[in-house]
Amino acid sequence: MIPFSPPRIDQKTIDAVTDTLQSGWITTGPKTKLFESRLKEYTGASAVFCCNAATNGLELLMRWLGVGPGDEVIIPAYTYCATGNVVVHLGATPVLVDVREDFTIDPSEVQKAITPKTKAIVPVDIGGLPVDYNALWKLIEDAAVDYIPANDRQSQLGRIALVADAAHSLGAFYGDVPIGTHADAVVFSFHAAKNLTTAEGGAICLNLPEGFDHEEAYRWLNVRSLHGQSKDALAKTKKNAWEYDVEEAGWKCNMTDIQAAMGLVELERYNAETLAKRRQIVERYQEAFAECSWAILPTVADEDRQTSYHLYLLRVKGASLAQRNAVIQGIFDREVSVNVHYKPLPLLSYYKNQGYTLDAYPITKSLWENEISLPVYYDLSMEQVETVIQAVKDSVEEVMA
Ligand SMILES: Cc1ncc(COP(=O)(O)O)c(C=O)c1O
Repeated sequence: MIPFSPPRIDQKTIDAVTDTLQSGWITTGPKTKLFESRLKEYTGASAVFCCNAATNGLELLMRWLGVGPGDEVIIPAYTYCATGNVVVHLGATPVLVDVREDFTIDPSEVQKAITPKTKAIVPVDIGGLPVDYNALWKLIEDAAVDYIPANDRQSQLGRIALVADAAHSLGAFYGDVPIGTHADAVVFSFHAAKNLTTAEGGAICLNLPEGFDHEEAYRWLNVRSLHGQSKDALAKTKKNAWEYDVEEAGWKCNMTDIQAAMGLVELERYNAETLAKRRQIVERYQEAFAECSWAILPTVADEDRQTSYHLYLLRVKGASLAQRNAVIQGIFDREVSVNVHYKPLPLLSYYKNQGYTLDAYPITKSLWENEISLPVYYDLSMEQVETVIQAVKDSVEEVMA
């Protein structure tokens, strides 16, 4: 069976983790700080804070902004549950909007959803394809006159915050610039199935407007990721430095040095090896399925954007939900694992019970019904890619005949 997206774990990763295990320091420490500085160089962000998951990164950042009960946060209906769940954790209301045919949030739908209660827009670079950041910034500027701040940070910002869920898009480009600086905060995921993995992990890239102190914001995130303790574990080990205070009841979502050790290896070879291989696979899929009249190919690049080749979101033209599911079954029967990204939020019980319905998001509905994600990962050989292509073609032809 060809798996869907196993992580790349080779001797280099094993050596780096072993080295950390033997170093005497396994939680947040020098490796995490080094990984943060390498990510800062890679993305060009003003500050980078690493934590244990993108989910917690998004949540912590919105806590920094003071998003809470009574506030609204605009997100796409077509995303992973994490994007919505963090808004729920904050006691705020997720306002779901529809996406465009390329799976990214539709700015014209965002515009209709903005109210004086909107505190943040959280678009998703789905599958690695960047959203239309320029269009979103224009909406935010236009809406600034109606913005009602609720605390000092929000007053200083003076407008809706743009917080990118960039869980998929490390290494993607918007314009000539790599993803990492196109929003007030850009949050990456290093989950096991992501392009760059630390098993679990995430990073918040900060790009706050002039007047904000990035060091102060970094410190806030760092302290709150460790219960609100004024000193982290490493600082407390210094001579006579055991005493600490807790400024606020914080959370616990720090990255460990074991995770960072993996991340450092992954980042070093990310462009030359990881992205290059993923691109090769995706280009072969595009070439192979371009010949099929039933195939709707994903957008991987246009004049403004280039994907990070995270997910290959293939669609089967005209397939009903039942036919899409039968195609998936047929592909699995041919020993190839595929997936669906994603079951839209209104179909998940929690969101359904809150009153969200899929019919309110017609494009999301049409994308979800006929989407199939194909394997893309470093260790997938080009021979296996041909097996995947054949399995998909045979299954579609069998089901849609
Ligand atoms: C779009 C999206 N946002 C957020 C997340 C959450 O990432 P993490 O697992 O690092 O918390 C994921 C993870 O799958 C995701 O796909």
